[in-house]
Amino acid sequence: MTPSARADAAPPTTDVDDVFTRPPLAGRHVALGVTGSIAAYKALSLASRLTQLGAHVDAILTAAAAELVRPLAFQALTHRPVALDLWDPGGAMGMDHVALAHRAELFVVAPATADSLARLALGLAGDALGTTALAVRCPIVVAPAMEPRMWAHPATRAHAATLRDRGVVIVGPLDGRMASGERGVGRLVEPDVLIEHLAAAIGRAGPLAGRHVVVSAGPTREAIDPVRFLSNGSTGRMGYALARRARDLGARVTLVSGPVALPPPPAIEVVAVESADDMCAAVLAVAPDADAVVMTAAVADYKPVRYSAEKVKKQPGDLTLTLDRTPDILLALDAALEGRSRRPVRVGFAAETSDLIGHARDKLVRKRLDLIVANPVPAAFGADDSEAFLVDAAGVEARPLGAKADLAGVILRRLDALLRARDARGEGAAG
Ligand code: CTP
Repeated sequence: MTPSARADAAPPTTDVDDVFTRPPLAGRHVALGVTGSIAAYKALSLASRLTQLGAHVDAILTAAAAELVRPLAFQALTHRPVALDLWDPGGAMGMDHVALAHRAELFVVAPATADSLARLALGLAGDALGTTALAVRCPIVVAPAMEPRMWAHPATRAHAATLRDRGVVIVGPLDGRMASGERGVGRLVEPDVLIEHLAAAIGRAGPLAGRHVVVSAGPTREAIDPVRFLSNGSTGRMGYALARRARDLGARVTLVSGPVALPPPPAIEVVAVESADDMCAAVLAVAPDADAVVMTAAVADYKPVRYSAEKVKKQPGDLTLTLDRTPDILLALDAALEGRSRRPVRVGFAAETSDLIGHARDKLVRKRLDLIVANPVPAAFGADDSEAFLVDAAGVEARPLGAKADLAGVILRRLDALLRARDARGEGAAG
């Protein structure tokens, strides 16, 4: 298939039933504007990653960008024609200069120079990028890259503020070393991070739009002394996958995270905690007024009765550590909701070594949950894949071993149904 034949193919229809499990950018039309910053070379990697994720990428280069990176490179990576010149009858924009804008479901400008930010803010439409920017009606994400002094200039700041006021998402720039050797705020955000912002932006109107979802993740650490703690092997992957997917389905997400080795997901409010007490306080601060709470965290059930401010020195013979119970966060939340008619939907997790479904059913009732996800251990800890059973009052849905990201979608589909049922009963979240 030639590049132009692919470009002419009908845009894929969005399968609404599939929206929970489909990767957020798969099958989506993304217009990628590239302007004349040396960081334009990173736009090639962005175009490649987006294409690998299943997006249909229409690259639009300014004349300055085309001086730095060859349009052909974008064409080779995206398998689609590249828009370069409004006035080339044979070019991608030649037939209809807004056709590309009409099919775009997301418009990203990366890198955006100071000049292009100004043009976008003013609505100048003298080139292919400018006309597309005015003609699209989809979310717009702009990733600036320029010399730190140019970014710091009041004119640039004012243009960025204008764009933000118009609903444009501005991502970066980052602090670091510039191509010139200077250091400062002006670096283009890395393509993988930008892609997460793109997934969040394209999902803004998703089924969870307008919902606030609180997710807890990871282990907790119960300190013994300044260098030792009690903890468990939870990596936080399930919770992070859930938080991301909820974000990409349109939810506002607060992620209350114990100590994990994962980077904080972009476009998500992350509250970092250490102990079960900290996590309990952080969850109780946001969850009562949220629409849903998903507790994936492996909360320690016990903590040392006494914390030693001095490092505990070894002694001859045995060491006895006396432990105290930590708060049960879900029960504490239930108590905090006492008397409220509007309650968040509550989803728990249960990792068990035996009688998986029996224990899950017991926790569903005891913790007054709407849904509990039961995972067999040790398989569930640390892996990218997970086998799961979704247990609620009506029964058990078995999910075979699959990626945690897919399981996250399945859980959120159930969560969405629970939220709709709650709305139908007239019990929305407070506030
Ligand atoms: N949980 C919680 N607070 C705790 C412990 C667990 O809110 N102190 C939550 C977990 O985040 C999870 C659910 O309760 O969503 C079940 O966790 P699990 O550790 O299996 O429950 P426990 O009550 O600790 O049960 P047990 O020790 O009997 O297995």
